[in-house]
Amino acid sequence: MYQRPRRNRKSSAIRKMVEETHLTVSHLIYPLFITHTKKEKSPIVSMPGIYRWGHEEVLQEIEDCIELGIENFVLFPVVPEEMKSKRGEYSYDENNFYLKTAIAIKNRFPHINLMSDVALDPYSTDGHDGIVENGIILNDETLPVLAQMSLAQAQAGFDIIGPSDMMDGRIAAIREILDDNNHTNTSIMAYSAKYASAFYGPFRDALDSAPKAGDKKTYQMNPANKKEALLEAMLDLEEGADFLMVKPALSYLDVIHLLNENFTLPITAYNVSGEYAMVKAAALNGWLNYEATFTETLLSMRRAGASAILTYFAKDFAEANQK
Ligand code: PBG
Repeated sequence: MYQRPRRNRKSSAIRKMVEETHLTVSHLIYPLFITHTKKEKSPIVSMPGIYRWGHEEVLQEIEDCIELGIENFVLFPVVPEEMKSKRGEYSYDENNFYLKTAIAIKNRFPHINLMSDVALDPYSTDGHDGIVENGIILNDETLPVLAQMSLAQAQAGFDIIGPSDMMDGRIAAIREILDDNNHTNTSIMAYSAKYASAFYGPFRDALDSAPKAGDKKTYQMNPANKKEALLEAMLDLEEGADFLMVKPALSYLDVIHLLNENFTLPITAYNVSGEYAMVKAAALNGWLNYEATFTETLLSMRRAGASAILTYFAKDFAEANQK
């Protein structure tokens, strides 16, 4: 035998020397669920270890995460039913607790990278990402709401705007309103290839944001499709996105790879709630080693081509990798 691949695996030093993919806490974005109450830490049943945080309490949580080395965060609002409406006006209301929380976070921790979520579903009585009329999710009527929401978020100090709604043309609408209002330095991370997935279940429990009727298949992508991801990514690039996201991650590693091969923008992966829940549930049952499994999972996304990963494992990863 001339070739013995095992020689390059014979010691930890050699294995590390030839390692092709690296994963550090700098690659991770930690999602946090924010409530309108001040002090709260309520568990999410389908996501053990993840909490809904009161808007004051979350400052301490962020400080703890920063000490562990986490610098990237994405915030999601848990909006009480009485603040929801058909057109989601509360999303850009100046008294909106989500925007106020962002201001407080950026005041206290100006150096962190704070990302928002743009879509109607947390604010919508219909539980859809766009305005609903007679069972139809209206595209063009939704765009100005998404744009206004994005502008309010940029004004609150969010560093990256994260449109997760999958309406056509929203990146252009958002880029335009930001630029017209001197927010040329605010980034956009487009949820480009966002699939109509069963893996969002626990997230919808966390936000109580599940659609009241129908499903999201007329705007989120068909899991069977890959070419369509290229089209979505191309449009988002042309319309002004700074990052292209694939979501979910684990069942869509081929899509991450495809976009990374075809686009120069950084590709991000959303390791979603259901993917977290699967690993967590198995680990809690003693069926999988928690740390080894989430490390391998996150590494696979990096290997597929993701620059950054939105993941509920971020804090546990940071804790496990403390130097
Ligand atoms: C909604 C939104 C969803 C997620 C992020 N933003 C759910 C959905 O589209 O129904 C899911 C994230 C997760 O499952 O972790 N705009």
